[in-house]
Formats: sequence, C-alpha cells, structure tokens
Amino acid sequence: MRKNLLHIWHKELSYEIREIVEVAKKIENFWINISWENIWDPVVKWEKIPLWMKEIVKNASELDEVYWYCPTRWLESAREYIASKTPNITKDNILFFNGLWDAINKVYKSLAFDSRVIWPNPAYSTHSSAEASHAWSSHITYSLNPNDNWNPDLLELENKVKYNPNIVGILVVNPDNPTWAVFSKQVLESIVSIAKRYDMFLIFDEIYEKLTYNDEDRVLLSDIIWDVPGISMKWISKDLPWPGSRCGWIEVYNEDKDENFKKYISSILASKLLEVCSTTLPQFVLPEIYENENYKISLNKRIENYKSRAILAEEYLWDLKEINLIKPKWAFYLSIAFNIDNLNKDFIPKINNNEIIKIIKTAISWSTRFDKKFCYYMLWKTWICSVPLSWFNSSYEWFRITLLEEDKDKFKYILTTIRDFILEFKK
Ligand SMILES: Cc1ncc(COP(=O)(O)O)c(C=O)c1O
Repeated sequence: MRKNLLHIWHKELSYEIREIVEVAKKIENFWINISWENIWDPVVKWEKIPLWMKEIVKNASELDEVYWYCPTRWLESAREYIASKTPNITKDNILFFNGLWDAINKVYKSLAFDSRVIWPNPAYSTHSSAEASHAWSSHITYSLNPNDNWNPDLLELENKVKYNPNIVGILVVNPDNPTWAVFSKQVLESIVSIAKRYDMFLIFDEIYEKLTYNDEDRVLLSDIIWDVPGISMKWISKDLPWPGSRCGWIEVYNEDKDENFKKYISSILASKLLEVCSTTLPQFVLPEIYENENYKISLNKRIENYKSRAILAEEYLWDLKEINLIKPKWAFYLSIAFNIDNLNKDFIPKINNNEIIKIIKTAISWSTRFDKKFCYYMLWKTWICSVPLSWFNSSYEWFRITLLEEDKDKFKYILTTIRDFILEFKK
C-alpha cells in the first residue's frame, strides 16, 4: 500500500473472551469434552428463554411494521414506556442503538479527540478501547481497590481530574463488570459531586442494574444526578435474557443545563441518523415483555440461582492462600484473583498430547501475564475454559468463571477441579 493502512490502536485490539474459545474449539477436535465456564451469554450455556416471552415475540413477528425501518431515535412506544419509568426525562431524552457497543462507539467518537473520559481500572474493554481509540492515545484511569470491596479511589480520581483539564467526563460501570461490585449511594454521589465541581459530564453504564443480588444495593444515576449533565446506558441483553437482540439505549439527563453538552448529544444523534435506525423487533416487544407478570418472577428466580452458586463457590475456595476470592454482589460470574507471592508462577503442568501442547504454546507464546498462562494451562489440563482478566485493562492477575452451571453436581466437580488445579501451583 502507498501508505500504512493501520490505526495505531490495532495492536491493542483483542477480545480475550473469544480468543480462548478459538483455542478450546481446536482442542475439542481431539474428542475432548470442554466445560464452557468462560461463557458470557447465558442463553448459550443453559438458560432457557421462557415460553411467555417467546409467545410475545412470535405474535409481534406476524405484524408487518416490525420489518420496517423504525425512526432513528427508536419507536415512540418504547421510548414513552422507558420515560414513564425513569425520573426527570422525557421520550426525547432517549436514543436507541444496535447493542451497547454501537452506543459506546458513537458516544466516544463524537467527542473532540483531545477531550478525554477517565474510566475505571479494571474496565470493561469495549469502553476502554473505544475511548482510547477515539483519542489516539493511551488510557486515563482511576483505580478500583480490591482490598476495599472494589470501591473507586476517589482521591486519585479527583486529582487526575483536577490536574488534567482534557478530562471532560467520568465513566462509571455500576453494577461493575468485571469486578461484580455494586457501588453505594455515598460513593456514587461523591463521583457526581466531582463531576459538578469540575464542570464535567458523567457516563454511567448501568446495563446490569436489574441483576443485583439485593434490591437495596440498586442506585441509579437518574436518582442522584442533580443538575449535572449525564448519560446512562441500558439494555435488554442479560436481564431478559436476549443478548442476540443487539438492543441498547442511552438516557440523557440535564441536556438543557449546558449548551455544549446539548450540541454533543445532537452530534451523537446525527451519527445515528447516518445509520438510519436500530433493529425494530426487540424495541417493539420491550414494553410488553417488561410489563408481563412473569418477567419479575423469572428474573428473581435466576438471581437467586446465581447467588446460591456464588455462596457454594465460596465454600469450596475460601481457604486457599494462593487466591483471593472476590465475592460478587451481582452477576452470573465469579472472579478469582491470584496471591502472586504465594504461587509458583513458573510451574508448567504436564500433559501427554503433543498436538495440544503445540496449540496451547502457540496461543500463549507472546504473553507475560500469569493469569493468561494459568487459564490456558487449566484448559489444557482440566478442559475447563475460563477467561483471564488482566486483559480488562487491569493491573491485577485474575480470572473468571461463570455461575451458570445448573447441574449442582457438575458445578461442585468444576469447583473441586479448579481448587486442585490452583493447588498444583503451590509454592
Ligand atoms: C459493562 C458492559 N458494557 C457494554 C457491553 C457491550 O454490550 P453489547 O453486547 O450490547 O455490545 C457489555 C457486554 O457484556 C458489558 O458487560
């Protein structure tokens, strides 16, 4: 080519959640039965779509209007429904996207390239790569502290904001992925107050708000934002669950409080106009699904299941010195951090199949991170597929499994196997 085609960011773009799956699929070719504990999609793992929900979608599919382009912002009926459930917004403050990825991308890309959003470390990679890629620059982060229930380091956040005038926004993911923390009202209000004092806006990714183990933990940006400009991101992927719907939206708060913020939101809408609209069917059925009497019942049942598996996992793993089990407050995931000083990091488990050794060694050849090696070795030795978490722009070494396994005996077997495998690295 006459000129380099690649964006400087291309080297950083990887999606570890799927990369380990590619390797596990190659191992499956040797007639090996993999335990898919990496899965990020509950429907793929076990969860059945309830019949009442299928019935609503089936009835809607008979109507011609769900096959049309819908308005750019989304169907009036869906926006009116959401506005009626959210304080201080109207339907005009809501804009729909093809999944959250679409929203995240447009929100960051519409910012001036030297206007930065500071985000948590660790952070969900879709946000971090989209923000850094918009700025053609490296990350600006504030720390979440594992020794303080993953609470944000508010002093660090305030200092970074104070001394870097390019920071115009703060991202908060609450409930958080990948720490599975849920932040208290007090913590969230402190962040809102920093944004107010330094004349900034807020982005709250609140897509998991309906999945917290305890109702009283749930504090939304719309409840605490006062007059600060802000964006909340929501979706239907995991609470219905319907990840393949690619259906998310943003709610904009206090758009009229700042002329510059208002223009920024208009520019997000303009970039959505170029795309015409988002998928029609999921938005069409959304109000009917949420209003169905069975919705709350099936959601609560799922949450109870995740919570009881989190308690079981704790029973199996809490006493290991080699790890630090981080108790989730929501979610169908469990994160396990390594106590690196208590581990033999150079240990390599033995295996007989040379072909599999070759596949694994190629996959981890360039990596220096212990958590990545651990997950790939665990795949090779125990056939359990997990996800290394340092990839979430994280300075910690840790990994995650899901809490989706419905067969209690199998889940216990998985926990015992992971426990034994961790102990192989004992110093
Ligand atoms: C916190 C968070 N934000 C955004 C996304 C991306 O959402 P989508 O799959 O709708 O693109 C995810 C996906 O799991 C997520 O966990």
